Amino acid sequence: MSALDDRRRRFTQYKEDVKKRGKPFYPYAMFHDTVMSLVVVCVIFLLAVVWRYGWFGDALGPLNGPKADPGTTSFVPRPDWYFYFLFYLLRIFKWPESVILATVGIPTILLIILLALPFVDLRTERRLGRRPVAVVAAVLVVISMGVLTYKGATAKEAIAAEVKAAVPSWAKKEGFAGNKEALAGANLFAVSACTNCHTYLGTGSSNLGAPDLSAEGAKGKGIQFQISHLKCPSCVNSGSPMPAFADLGQDNLKKLATFLEASKGGK
Ligand code: HEC
Repeated sequence: MSALDDRRRRFTQYKEDVKKRGKPFYPYAMFHDTVMSLVVVCVIFLLAVVWRYGWFGDALGPLNGPKADPGTTSFVPRPDWYFYFLFYLLRIFKWPESVILATVGIPTILLIILLALPFVDLRTERRLGRRPVAVVAAVLVVISMGVLTYKGATAKEAIAAEVKAAVPSWAKKEGFAGNKEALAGANLFAVSACTNCHTYLGTGSSNLGAPDLSAEGAKGKGIQFQISHLKCPSCVNSGSPMPAFADLGQDNLKKLATFLEASKGGK
């Protein structure tokens, strides 16, 4: 018997089984769905009440957290835990060459494989022991997501206070310890999240292809260029993904620029 005949026979058998032993959607399945939906709504409602009246302290999160501060310079954004694996995946793939591959390419390929699977694997085998490829693939996915989640959860962010502690040693190595404006700029640099993308004398992490800034001053771009660039990076270097820092204000931008120009690479 050909595979197609076999499938036809199974399908007729299935239709007969449904006629003999099946239950109509209405009211059976609908009743189940209604009950289950009500249970879910009740649980959500109960959790909301528990949270509102603080019956278990702050177990479900505080009712009134600190107000959001749009002017913060030291906040380190972290995704929710269930996105840690993606968060870490982005760290593995370096901007810009392979990021598109990682975020669009690989998921698309996996999705196509998943969609094609029912047309490729026509066997009716369901026992796990007889489906080694599927089982190994599933186990690998679970393990890699687990590892990526763990790595994402423990990934170190450049903490402003730690970066700031490195400023005196920068000043010594780069020789701007006597320059008050540059020192103030270095401290601003440490707390303005610059080191989330840039490295400076080994501190910080490299992201989005941002250059190391230890020798930025040696490029001879000048204070004026640095200020314009910080105000609107993409206006000066077209296509730049660096965020604008115009909100820091002219005074602070001048300090940052002085610091950048004083950074000649150190000894
Ligand atoms: C989200 C990542 C990101 C952050 C945060 C960031 N930068 Fe950048 N920066 C980049 C990228 C990417 C480039 C390369 C493109 C460009 O030149 O604009 C860059 C380039 C630069 C350059 C080189 C410009 C040139 O043409 O020589 C300087 C200087 C610089 N950034 C300073 C800073 C300072 C100071 C801060 C903090 C106030 C900062 N960056 C924060 C991503 C970032």
